[in-house]
Amino acid sequence: MIALLVLVPLLVAAAGTGLSPRRQPNARVPNRHDELRALEWGDLNFLHTTDTHGWLAGHILEKQFSGDWGDFVSFTTHMRALADARGKDLLIIDTGDRHDGNGLSDATEVNGELSQPIFCEVDFDVVTVGNHELYTGIASLQEFHSIRHHFQDRYVVSNVEVFDDSEWKPLGSKYRVFETKNLKKRVLAFGFLFNFDGNDKQITRVTKVEHEIEKQWFQDVLRDILPTVDYIVLAGHIPVRDWPEFQTILDAIREKHSTIPVSMFGGHSHVRDYVVYDDNAVALQSGRYVETIGFASVNLTENGPEFSRAYIDFNQRTMAFHSGAASIAEFVTDRGRNLSEYIARTRQQLDLDDYQTYIPQTYYMDRAPYPSERSVYTLFEENILPLLTSPPELVAKQQTRFVFLNTGALRFDMFKGPYTKDSTFILSPFRNKWFYIADIPLETAEKVLPILNGQGRVLQANSRFMGALYLNEMEQEEVVEQQGDGYIGSRRPSFGYVTEDDEGDQGDDTVHRAWRFYDVPNAIVSVQRKSTENATLVFHGFMTWYIEQALAQLTSLPYEILPHGGEDITELVPLYFQN
Ligand SMILES: *[C@@H]1O[C@H](CO)[C@@H](O)[C@H](O)[C@H]1NC(C)=O
Ligand SMILES: *[C@@H]1O[C@H](CO)[C@@H](O)[C@H](O)[C@H]1NC(C)=O
Ligand SMILES: *[C@@H]1O[C@H](CO)[C@@H](O)[C@H](O)[C@H]1NC(C)=O
Ligand SMILES: [Zn+2]
Repeated sequence: MIALLVLVPLLVAAAGTGLSPRRQPNARVPNRHDELRALEWGDLNFLHTTDTHGWLAGHILEKQFSGDWGDFVSFTTHMRALADARGKDLLIIDTGDRHDGNGLSDATEVNGELSQPIFCEVDFDVVTVGNHELYTGIASLQEFHSIRHHFQDRYVVSNVEVFDDSEWKPLGSKYRVFETKNLKKRVLAFGFLFNFDGNDKQITRVTKVEHEIEKQWFQDVLRDILPTVDYIVLAGHIPVRDWPEFQTILDAIREKHSTIPVSMFGGHSHVRDYVVYDDNAVALQSGRYVETIGFASVNLTENGPEFSRAYIDFNQRTMAFHSGAASIAEFVTDRGRNLSEYIARTRQQLDLDDYQTYIPQTYYMDRAPYPSERSVYTLFEENILPLLTSPPELVAKQQTRFVFLNTGALRFDMFKGPYTKDSTFILSPFRNKWFYIADIPLETAEKVLPILNGQGRVLQANSRFMGALYLNEMEQEEVVEQQGDGYIGSRRPSFGYVTEDDEGDQGDDTVHRAWRFYDVPNAIVSVQRKSTENATLVFHGFMTWYIEQALAQLTSLPYEILPHGGEDITELVPLYFQN
């Protein structure tokens, strides 16, 4: 309730500011000719968000994802009404990572201070925690005091404890049992975080999934409650494919009940995906950054459950379509409009549109080949990293300078348009510091990057690797076209997600021409050559361990790691484009 109390006066204050009631200022409209696929409703229906990372204002520069959290409020209202009208049920679920990645969440002194109450405006049935809520103690305590306080038993966290008031307490309710509104199905919900170890250990404790399910409480639930329920919802900040955690939990359930239907909702790796675990258990993962609303449904028939899934592009057009609204005006509810206005006002208060420079073309992370003139990594290697200021004592050495950057240091594409305060948080939510090692023989320095890139994909959080692709001329043109604005109103499908999952490639609600994803290396390097025999290595503190590992393979000479100073990468960007 605290969150709402804060929010309501601000909403009142926001009235009458004359802001666009329908969209964030400057946000674009999606292609109105893209074909949409209808949702397949069932007895139980689910809407799922995950890894929102503060993008509650939507994507101002990307028309396909130009809806905002106010629109999601409107959408959930319509969908609940549709469920009631059909005598079916709708459950709304979020699986964590609510900040780090957008100015709306990160430009406040404490991340999430203003964005968490906005998030709380959706009446979720099950909310769980992500690793980004646990990196700092302050974030975890905020989670405990705002999200937990607001959602109460609907905040389900099965394997994380928080240190509050000098004792360890469960961060959320360990599980939740509830009855659905219309069909009166009894549902048992869990909320697990993957086996995460990067948390602030003073404030939170993450128990490995395989250990948590051995505990008495879980065993008791399986023994006493499982036999009394009709359905299991397993929310998890866990990738649905190739990670063991969901399987581990499902196995424990299956040991006690071989057929109870289970719907899993995952996250963390930022992809759209859907995995069939067994005849009665499926898992949906709903992308990232408020690009995607996952939809899942199930008919509970005598022959067992029949499942369906869809990935909804996050914009007003798709949401109005699935709501059965005749127009956008009919779609937007008063509550939704209020929230959109409040978001716009909050962005204004935080100066998120504060203009720094203009980006004349779009640069992609993995949606363009590397190297290429569309690649954000090529841009950094050739134009941006060379602008880093070195300390005078280093400049005096006149050594060839190797500036390394792990590709994971950049979090998102750079879109054509204004580069604002918001863009800095989007490009890189973490303010990394530079370090250097001088007096490394040039030939040794040359060998560091190949080693970093041969180490497997350790530095790379990106899991959408699709293999190195040969680019013919036509494909290169497509890459160029993907960033164009030319197709508003075009009858050719726009580019977007075409997701291949366990049920095929018809799950995306909008029929797109497929984006292609390209392989990217672990790390890149920008080299400024001088004629002396020695070189200097410059890198983010995050990469120190990897650089040391590489050097250990190359040399036995002693070296020293020193702080380098200089601009962080988000400050370097305007230095280049201003010229
Ligand atoms: C929206 O905000 C206005 C003014 O702040 C208020 O009068 C109205 O009741 C709100 N409507 C809803 C549905 O929240
Ligand atoms: C559920 O059953 C209805 C009525 O037979 C059908 O129209 C719908 O497609 C089914 N949904 C799923 C998810 O199987
Ligand atoms: C180059 O570095 C080595 C140590 O790796 C050092 O002994 C040597 O003096 C350096 N040469 C110059 C010209 O600085
Ligand atoms: Zn995430």
